[in-house]
Amino acid sequence: MTILITGGAGYIGSHCCVAFLEAGHDVVVIDNLSNAHPECIERIAEITGKKVAFEEVDIRDQAAVERVLRKHQCSAVIHFAGLKAVGESTKDPLAYYDNNVVGTHRLLSAMSNCGVRQMIFSSSATVYGEPQFLPITEKHPLNAVNPYGRTKLIIEDMLRDIATSNPAWKFSILRYFNPVGAHKSGMIGEDPLGIPNNLMPFIAQVAAGRREQLSVFGNDYDTRDGTGVRDYIHVVDLVAGHLRAYEALASRETPSNCFVVNLGTGAGYSVLEMVSAFERASNKQIPCVTAPRRNGDVAEIYADISTALEVFDWKAENDLDAMCRDTWNWVCKNPRGYEGR
Ligand code: NAD
Ligand code: WQD
Repeated sequence: MTILITGGAGYIGSHCCVAFLEAGHDVVVIDNLSNAHPECIERIAEITGKKVAFEEVDIRDQAAVERVLRKHQCSAVIHFAGLKAVGESTKDPLAYYDNNVVGTHRLLSAMSNCGVRQMIFSSSATVYGEPQFLPITEKHPLNAVNPYGRTKLIIEDMLRDIATSNPAWKFSILRYFNPVGAHKSGMIGEDPLGIPNNLMPFIAQVAAGRREQLSVFGNDYDTRDGTGVRDYIHVVDLVAGHLRAYEALASRETPSNCFVVNLGTGAGYSVLEMVSAFERASNKQIPCVTAPRRNGDVAEIYADISTALEVFDWKAENDLDAMCRDTWNWVCKNPRGYEGR
């Protein structure tokens, strides 16, 4: 039985392929390469010593997805494919509803036609909106405040409705906090196109001399040093959570046929703490300037991780120093990311 990994040539998907291949599973990747480089597939094969089945397919192409599901006799899907930039989603919401919502609808329709009824879905802490209490439990009210977040919520609702309609479907909805870091080999990692939107890749590019300085978006939040606090999680831990989610789905030891789990560490770090940790890991100075708050940012958010521990018997193992060390190793070995991007 093979697991279909959509978006498996992307940042988190590629790490997930490595984890599943190393755990002895067969995988097939589909990706339209809109935010990925085919070299990544070669690197996954090099790390694991296993051949990786790859098909350049868009999830919106239902017939092509059905063909892949049948050809590889897939039994489950791990669904990463989609667009993920909050700012871009406010400028081009149609692209987000098309790729994320329409794409997932077509993928689910293909699965239904092929009798594949298990999915692990990449959701996001962004669905919680402004925290009403901390740490954030899975029962925290949902209030996405941008088109990207709303696509994730709509997909979550679609999965809940399908699960209710037919108990044969099984869904694990994983709400990621802030994934960072890279595989310890330094062969795969996050390779943003253009100016990075997120903190960690931006800091890494400043350390590498590709950018002059970091703009710290706001230093007057009600946090311990005035800068935004987030729950950063090492991508290798994050994908280990997917492996546990898959094992739980497959063994039916789940609380229901559609359940939600936060994936974070439970600890929050401020922007300035991230800068200091990266300076330690890289032995480089990160020049910073204070800039206005970024629209839509919250002061502080971090996960309650007790459900992950209870349901998956899983918790993150890597600390902030490991996250920075592994990011720096990836950047040093691939200063321009995957070649040709
Ligand atoms: P990524 O952009 O690196 O990976 C997504 C992959 O999907 C890319 O390889 C892209 O080429 C592919 N893709 C996009 N649209 C597609 C389509 N229509 N058909 C086929 N392939 C398509 O992003 P990532 O950081 O690896 O994120 C993976 C998932 O996790 C996304 O769904 C994202 O929303 C979610 N997520 C990410 C974060 C984060 O901070 N990275 C946080 C929470 C949730
Ligand atoms: C972290 C902190 C910024 C860049 C985003 C998405 C979320 C999820 C993860 C997909 C904040 C500050 C950042 C910079 C800065 N993605 N910052 N200077 O905003 O928590 O979450 O990525 O689902 O949906 O919203 O992460 O890395 O952008 O920001 O000061 O150049 O760093 O203000 O406090 P965020 P981030």
